[in-house]
Amino acid sequence: MPSMLPGAPWLLAHKSMLQQDKPQKISLQGHDYVLWLDENGEAQALPDACPHMGAMLSEGWCDRGKVVCPFHALQFNSAGCTVLPGSGKETLPQLQPLKLIIHGDFIWSYGDHEPVIPIPTILKEIAESSEFIGVAGEYSVKTELLPMLLNMHDYNHQNGTHRPLFEIKKVLFDKFIDEGHHSHAYYRMPRAQTSTKDILANPALLAMPKVIEAHLENFFPMMVLFHGTTFFGKIKQCHIFVPESATHTRTYVLVYGQTNGALGNMALKMLRSSVLKLVDTVIQQDADILHKIYADIPQKIKLNNEVGMDWVRRNFESFPHIVTPNMSR
Ligand code: FES
Ligand SMILES: [Fe+2]
Repeated sequence: MPSMLPGAPWLLAHKSMLQQDKPQKISLQGHDYVLWLDENGEAQALPDACPHMGAMLSEGWCDRGKVVCPFHALQFNSAGCTVLPGSGKETLPQLQPLKLIIHGDFIWSYGDHEPVIPIPTILKEIAESSEFIGVAGEYSVKTELLPMLLNMHDYNHQNGTHRPLFEIKKVLFDKFIDEGHHSHAYYRMPRAQTSTKDILANPALLAMPKVIEAHLENFFPMMVLFHGTTFFGKIKQCHIFVPESATHTRTYVLVYGQTNGALGNMALKMLRSSVLKLVDTVIQQDADILHKIYADIPQKIKLNNEVGMDWVRRNFESFPHIVTPNMSR
């Protein structure tokens, strides 16, 4: 039952991921698009294949807010119109723009589909109340959307997938609150001593407590928020998922911080790049295991605390409807 959940909103990018004058390729639900910033710094998107001879517009450049094809240098505006050499006037649209929904720095899209579920407002709230630390762990993973989501809601994989990093001793599951497409999971993970080697490789590990108190807030299907606490204050990792095609899913993490006073501020400034690097390492480990799973193997064994995965499967199968059971406990 592979599906890319038509009608869900997907966060294509945070504005900081785009550079003025540099078009970028974005894939969504089996289509490739070129995404760029126009003269006013607003994000625009067109199908990536040039209507002349099919060159990738994302490999081109920008000129006064238009995207320029790298093959014969035709320029397209955000409506998909171009001016043919010698004609002096604009053509009708040759490309159908991808509809983007811009919320502050967040660039959302429903792709070709009519919306069936709303865009969550939480990112706007986080952006207003926290400091943006950066983007990390961006990977296009050769996996369908469902296994990607299952991995993110799997509270038992720390000891396998992330074993070399955190040295989690066990997972103590506290509570799951099921509110349909929105849910919360609370659990604690006591850690063994981190090795000096790991700390040298990832100084941000020093900021991690002996017991990681995890609070995951889940927004089906596009996002999981990890609310974390470190000695410098609160950290919010927004894990984003984008179904690129039936076989590939992109993920990346927007990291925000709320520091506790001047000292925390300073610590965060110093640790900023290692915090991002630590997140990157975690996502790399997730991407790595996702490349090493046989597809469509019936699950014969069930572990404790798979409630997050049960929640994902229920919502996936019944999308966009919400059916029982309610999995709160
Ligand atoms: S292929 Fe794009 S201008 Fe020719
Ligand atoms: Fe993971």
